[in-house]
Amino acid sequence: MTIDWDTSRGGKGGYPFYMEKEIHEQPDAIKDTVSPHIVNGKTSFAEEGIPDSLFRENQNIVVIACGTAMHAGLIGQQLFHTLANIHTDVAIASEFTYTNPVIKPGTLVIAVSQSGETIDTLEAIKFAKKKGAKVLSIVNVKGSTIADNSDYCIYTHAGPEIAVASTKAFTSQASVFYLLAIHAARLNGLLSTEEVAHYLDELNRIPEIITQILDKKSFIQKMTNKFLSHDQAFMIGRGLDYSLLLEGSLKLKEISYIHSEAYASGELKHGTIALITNGIPVVALVTQSALASKEYSNIREVQSRGASVLLITRQSLYKDMNIPEEDTFILPEMDDLFMTFPAAVVMQLIAYYTSSAKGYDVDKPRNLAKVVTVE
Ligand code: G6P
Repeated sequence: MTIDWDTSRGGKGGYPFYMEKEIHEQPDAIKDTVSPHIVNGKTSFAEEGIPDSLFRENQNIVVIACGTAMHAGLIGQQLFHTLANIHTDVAIASEFTYTNPVIKPGTLVIAVSQSGETIDTLEAIKFAKKKGAKVLSIVNVKGSTIADNSDYCIYTHAGPEIAVASTKAFTSQASVFYLLAIHAARLNGLLSTEEVAHYLDELNRIPEIITQILDKKSFIQKMTNKFLSHDQAFMIGRGLDYSLLLEGSLKLKEISYIHSEAYASGELKHGTIALITNGIPVVALVTQSALASKEYSNIREVQSRGASVLLITRQSLYKDMNIPEEDTFILPEMDDLFMTFPAAVVMQLIAYYTSSAKGYDVDKPRNLAKVVTVE
C-alpha cells in the first residue's frame, strides 16, 4: 500500500484529540477533494478516465459501504434521485451478498471506504463484479485494496484520519457524491448551465460555511450539557435531514456510549414515540424547506410527551416552538440540498463535546477499530 500524504498534517496540531483536529480540517479536505473536479466551470472526471456512459439516466446504481461511509451513500442516493433521475440503492456491505441483489450487466456499483481495506466492502465488490457490475470506488487511502479492485477510483483528499470516528472523510465522501450527481445530471441534459453553475458555487461555498460553524463551537459545546445526564437520545428529521441524522446518531453512539436512535419523523407514530418520556433529549433537524411544516408538527408531538428538544435549523425555516435559545442552533443558509454539510459539522461537534465532557478517550472508543478487516 502506498500513502502519499503530507506528513506535516500529522500530530494533534494543538487540539486535545485527533477528532477535533480532523473536524477542523474539513474546509481544506473538501476544497482539496472538490477542486480537481471542476474544470472550466464544469464537472470533470477525465483524470480518473471515467466514461460518460457510466451515468446514463436509465442506469441503476448500487452504493455499498459500511458505517459512516454508508451514510455518505444515503446522501448520494437522494442526490442521484433528485438531480439525475438515476435509480440508486444503498446496501450495507456486510448484508449485500446475503440478499441476492439484482445486479445486471451494466449496473454501476459505487463502493465507499475511507480506509479502502474494509473486508465486507471488498467482498461485496468482488461479488458484484462477478455478476457483471462496473465498480467505481470513492476511497481516501491511495493504493488501497478496494481502490485496486475497482474499475475506477475517485480519491477523497481528506488526508490521514486517525480518530476512529470518521469526520472529514465523511464530508469529503459526500462532496464526491454531489460532484457525481451534478455530473450525471449535466451529462443527461437535466440541468441548465445556470443550474450547474449554481450547484458548483454552493459546493465551493462549503469550506467557508463550515468555518462559520467552527467559529460557534463553544455554543455547541454548551448545547451538549443536555445529553450528559441521559443514557439515551433520539434524533428526528425527514429526507436529507434523516439521512444526516443517521450519521449524527452513529457518531454520538460511537464515542459517548449514549444509545441514540435517528428516526424518520413520519415513523415516530409507528413505535418510537412510545419511548419519549419526560426530559428525553431529542435532536430535531429542520433544513429542508418543503418538509419544515411537517417536521414542526413532529416536534410538537414529542414536546407534548415531555421531550427536551434541541432544534437545529436555519433562519428562513425557524419557528418559535418555545425552545430556549441555548437549545437552538441556527445554521448558515445554503441551497436546501447542501444543508447536509453545516448540519454534519454540528452533529460531529455534539458527539465530540459529549464524549470529551464525559472524560472518554474520544479518539479510541471502546471495542471499535478504525480499519475493519474481519467479516
Ligand atoms: C469502522 C470505522 C468507521 C467506518 C467503517 C467503514 O467501523 O470505525 O468509522 O465508517 O469502519 O470504514 P471504511 O474505511 O470502509 O470507510
